[in-house]
Amino acid sequence: MPKIVHSKSYITILKMNIPNKNAILKSDLGYGGIPLKPLESIEFQTKKQMYDFMAVRLKAYLDEAPDWCSALGNASALFNALLKNINWAGFYLMKNQELILGPFQGKPACVRIEMGKGVCGTAALQQTTQLVPDVHAFDGHIACDSASNSELVVPIILNGSTVAVIDLDSPLINRFDEEDALGFEKIAKLLSSQLDWQTVLNR
Ligand code: SME
Repeated sequence: MPKIVHSKSYITILKMNIPNKNAILKSDLGYGGIPLKPLESIEFQTKKQMYDFMAVRLKAYLDEAPDWCSALGNASALFNALLKNINWAGFYLMKNQELILGPFQGKPACVRIEMGKGVCGTAALQQTTQLVPDVHAFDGHIACDSASNSELVVPIILNGSTVAVIDLDSPLINRFDEEDALGFEKIAKLLSSQLDWQTVLNR
């Protein structure tokens, strides 16, 4: 009998108190121990539970990914699969003092954002999370998808410098709250500490 080694995310689900846990665990195990299909169907009971799961899953991708492009590509796919009611999820990465579009899920978006411009540039310059309940009320908001109505942008900071931002857009007004902001601030810290940012800055 081969020894079955469960992934960290499998063990995380095993310990969680979620209603469809057994169905998820009994399904065919795919990449990383859990197939991607049920990822969207996990019924988390609290947002905290979902963000804890997201962090464990992301850590597994970061441990495995050979480079930043694979890691951030999988991270944006993970955000897109786990978050409900969003239309864009991804990264803008610093290069020569401006933000350049990185891996994302959603419609094509603007490629360059100057520091201080739009919601992303504001988060990058001020190094603070931007929780925007209504993008139409945000002075200077850069519209990439006319479906977007609310937005959450969290800076990724390394040794005092902004290296990237995480950007999430929703078609719903007021989609994001303080818990989402805290959840993504933890994700930003994980990315800051685990990714080789020198390879991102030198790309
Ligand atoms: N709305 C952002 C631009 C990026 S897109 O939403 C993907 C902003 O104002 O910076």
